[in-house]
Amino acid sequence: MILYRKDDTMTQVTPETIKWDDLDFGYIDTGKKYRAYYKDGKWSKGQIETNKDITISEASTALHYGQQAFEGLKAYKTKTGDIQLFRPELNARRMIDSANKLLMPAYPEEDFVEAIHEVVKANAAWVPPYGSGATLYIRPLLIGIGDIVGVQPAKEYLFSIFVTPVGLYFKGGLKPSKFVVSDYDRAAPLGTGANKVGGNYASSYQPGKLAKDQGYSDAIYLDPTTHTKIEEVGSANFYGIKNNTFITPKSPSILPSITKRSLLWLAENRLGMAVEEGDIYLDDLKHFSEAGAMGTAAVISPIASITHQDREYKFHSETEPGPVTKKLYDELTGIQFGTVEAPEGWIQVV
Ligand code: PLP
Ligand code: COI
Repeated sequence: MILYRKDDTMTQVTPETIKWDDLDFGYIDTGKKYRAYYKDGKWSKGQIETNKDITISEASTALHYGQQAFEGLKAYKTKTGDIQLFRPELNARRMIDSANKLLMPAYPEEDFVEAIHEVVKANAAWVPPYGSGATLYIRPLLIGIGDIVGVQPAKEYLFSIFVTPVGLYFKGGLKPSKFVVSDYDRAAPLGTGANKVGGNYASSYQPGKLAKDQGYSDAIYLDPTTHTKIEEVGSANFYGIKNNTFITPKSPSILPSITKRSLLWLAENRLGMAVEEGDIYLDDLKHFSEAGAMGTAAVISPIASITHQDREYKFHSETEPGPVTKKLYDELTGIQFGTVEAPEGWIQVV
């Protein structure tokens, strides 16, 4: 039985009964998961398993010391019914970086990409139809398991992937929403901010809640060294548009976003814009005509305004995305859903 928790009620759903256009960014047990185990210095051959629950030792390093990393990517259904992946090898490489940082054995790039294909194929019925606005979110996870108490890396690991159909991450979609600068940091200057590891997200819970309690979509973090420059959102990178230039922060403590990397290329090569990765001081915000959050889950979510202490920096409009944001959104999502020609190597058909 497949259960879906929406608004705190449990409903049974199947690919036949699910309302694709009514999905939020939630979890649905789709029944098929990919799992591989690392023991005695090597990875087992991964396989599809059906139990959403995993049984691990109470002394697992993932539980006590946060020895874990994850990834996020999506599968997209095209008009003709193909299922497409967007640059999955970049997720594989980023997870290898996260694994190296936390002294975990990396899951090899080729095996990672193959596993993504296999698990998406196994759950093909759960890929939302073209035009529904929904996608299949894919969540790879690497965790340290086994009996360890001291602060040291595990000897055994689990690599797991689940998928779940999702709707919008930020409720408004292309309707701009308001963000607030947090008084707190999500990552340390020379810490794990550039890695996709759980601890960065645990430290964003409280600032995120404070922001949402005040009616904002989420918190925006400043650079943790000087607290003068825009860093990123807790779940997405940040961009701004100034005089036909696409500008995004460069910092060792933000996640190197695959969407950001793609938009930098598209802004320059498809929209003919200047692009810049550099410092964005808070005070620069007054020169920006548009701003947005970008990421796999966030896609491109336009920002209406950013509040910092008693100042509110406003961008294009509170109701409509700006013209550049709209063009970038159409270009990126067109490529992902197969209506716009993709740059060489960006799309893999499952
Ligand atoms: N920044 C953070 C903190 C994120 O969690 C994400 C999501 O993965 C991103 C940025 C965007 O990265 P990507 O575009 O690779 O999804
Ligand atoms: C993603 O965009 O894939 C993320 O991981 C963001 C968030 C859901 C944590």
